[in-house]
Amino acid sequence: MNKIKALIVIFLVSVCTLNAQELKSPSGNFTMKFSLLQDGTPTYQLFYQNKEVIKTSKLGLELKNDAKSLLNDFKVVSAFPAAFNEIWNTVWGEETQIQNHYNELAVRLKQNGTEREMIIRFRLFNDGLGFRYEFPQQKNLVYFVIKEERTEFAMTGDHKAFWIPGDYDTQEYDYTESKLSEIRGLFKKAVTDNASQQQFSETGVQTSLMMKTADGIYINIHEAALINYSCMSLDLNDKTFVFQSHLTPDAKGDKGYMQAPCVSPWRTMVISNDARAILASRMTLNLNEPCKIEDTSWIKPVKYVGVWWEMITGKSSWSYTNDFPAIQLGVTDYSKAKPNGTHAANNKHVKEYIDFAALHGFDAVLVEGWNEGWEDWFGQSKDYVFDFVTPYPDFNVQEIHAYAKSKGIKMIMHHETSGSVRNYERHMDKAYQFMKDNGYDAVKSGYVGNMLPRGEHHYSQWILNHYQYAIEKAADYKIMVNAHEAVRPTGICRTYPNLIGNESARGTEFQAFGGSKPNHTTILPFTRLMGGPMDYTPGIFEMDIAKLNPNNNSHVNTTLANQLGLYVVMYSPLQMAADLPENYNRFLDAFQFIKDVPVEWAKSKYLEAEPGYYITIARKDKNSNNWFVGNSNGTTPRTSAITLDFLEKGKKYEATIYADAADADYKNNPQAYKISKQKVTNKTILKLRTAAGGGYAISIVEVK
Ligand code: NOJ
Ligand code: CA
Repeated sequence: MNKIKALIVIFLVSVCTLNAQELKSPSGNFTMKFSLLQDGTPTYQLFYQNKEVIKTSKLGLELKNDAKSLLNDFKVVSAFPAAFNEIWNTVWGEETQIQNHYNELAVRLKQNGTEREMIIRFRLFNDGLGFRYEFPQQKNLVYFVIKEERTEFAMTGDHKAFWIPGDYDTQEYDYTESKLSEIRGLFKKAVTDNASQQQFSETGVQTSLMMKTADGIYINIHEAALINYSCMSLDLNDKTFVFQSHLTPDAKGDKGYMQAPCVSPWRTMVISNDARAILASRMTLNLNEPCKIEDTSWIKPVKYVGVWWEMITGKSSWSYTNDFPAIQLGVTDYSKAKPNGTHAANNKHVKEYIDFAALHGFDAVLVEGWNEGWEDWFGQSKDYVFDFVTPYPDFNVQEIHAYAKSKGIKMIMHHETSGSVRNYERHMDKAYQFMKDNGYDAVKSGYVGNMLPRGEHHYSQWILNHYQYAIEKAADYKIMVNAHEAVRPTGICRTYPNLIGNESARGTEFQAFGGSKPNHTTILPFTRLMGGPMDYTPGIFEMDIAKLNPNNNSHVNTTLANQLGLYVVMYSPLQMAADLPENYNRFLDAFQFIKDVPVEWAKSKYLEAEPGYYITIARKDKNSNNWFVGNSNGTTPRTSAITLDFLEKGKKYEATIYADAADADYKNNPQAYKISKQKVTNKTILKLRTAAGGGYAISIVEVK
């Protein structure tokens, strides 16, 4: 179906009711109440099924060096309701079509004395609320600096939350599950469990924040369309359970340089009494602008392997030599340096990966550590370490490209910037052109370490503008981007679908850096993935990392069957089979699922879900009538029961089930799986036991 668009301005609400407004969602399940307090402070309040879910919460912004902030003393000038309903086609996604259906209220405010105007635009969907601040063009508000955004999200009680500390530089944390009142007490532990980074407020948490009320209502707070603004975390008042927005400061401590006309990102609350509806929500995407790339034919989901896990585990190295971290001394002639013997990105080895990819039907091979500079990448003076075009002496870009091409394999480029964004921008055109010249159409970029310019943070406005610049420039070159350590996504992939991946959370790499909690992937879809897909890099079959590197005693805290389930649970148009070919060769029957699972979907069904405990999702292949089911289970063993009623009535299918064996356990017996086949229809009910840290995967193929 083509786009159906209907933007109808219904009527102008009569002036006498202007200070108190009500908005209902299309189905009527939500009611949002806007009102001005006595002192002219704008507020909102939200009801779900007639129950208050967000208490009266203040809205506004504190400005820097300004006599009067945009906090109070407002009057309502007008309030425009509107309704919108369309269906739009995705370039890639969890389904081919998405409905964008909401009722809107645009409240225009004018401040007494300053005569400044600000619009608060509310959009109420059947799955929650989004609103943003808009600063129209006007005489009295042109340039302004945000000292802090003071948006409140007032909770109705001491909810359970899945949270990570409000770090300005990383989201690579394990989640803590606790009551809101317990955050302060658990904060230090949550921080020391990870972080190299700094700047904490003791009750500050990141979004997307997943909560559950005592009476079973799920509340997810995040933001959408974070562009030219700072990333928001939330400060909790743990006496009143009121969250307040906390923007990431820049090097000077400022939180946003603005010029009207401009807008803030959307503040979002996805709410339901069914956890599955949180996963099914498309509000974040719907609040982003439609696709700005006219020809999207070059944007293609990718299943890939990579010269990667062997470096992450410490079996191999990114760097070519141990001779020098000595770029400062002018020793830059790598051809004269002694190879360290562990450099993985060499022609012979990369060709082995290409052969493996071709043999098993993958689309692409990622190679990290191919370019000069890795000896110095963590250094203080890293500003000029990488130029993104100069390979090490043992890696021949043209030869590898020709070889890959002959086998029908694409190469994926790697640009580690080490956080030196100016250096990346200096080289970007040359680097992207180099990619095009050598047959690369996708790049994994990375921002490890402290930011340069010094004092900037991974999530401050100026740095966010860099990530956006990289995405848009890549689109000019028809290049797809998968950015690691960049800001967590907020649905921008709708507007720029060449952003096919982000990391921005604790990915599989941490299973080699000490491990992640066994229930980690039962939380990520409720938090990090609310904003867009994650390059989680699943598919680890050898859980005992010491088998790869005797000096690394890390353990991958999942079963093998769980790793298979992640290809469905952790939606991404970019999926990696992250383990080494030699480990896949030991378990080729289980590897078959990774070979079969698609990366393009027609639709998705959320069968079971409870954050922190379990998720089961079924997805239909975009290019066939086949379905794939994935489950990820938390720390407690459980029996998952699903009905295959999503299958087409009257059709017969064969299911191949990759499940935990009866004695499987993430810690003690992770490789115990069993594979079975059975005929199924849309009436079939399956009951599958999942181990601690376990899961399952099912491929369901139509029998013709
Ligand atoms: C961190 C990334 O998450 C990882 O995937 C990458 O290999 C390293 N940085 C090196 O760039
Ligand atoms: Ca990372």
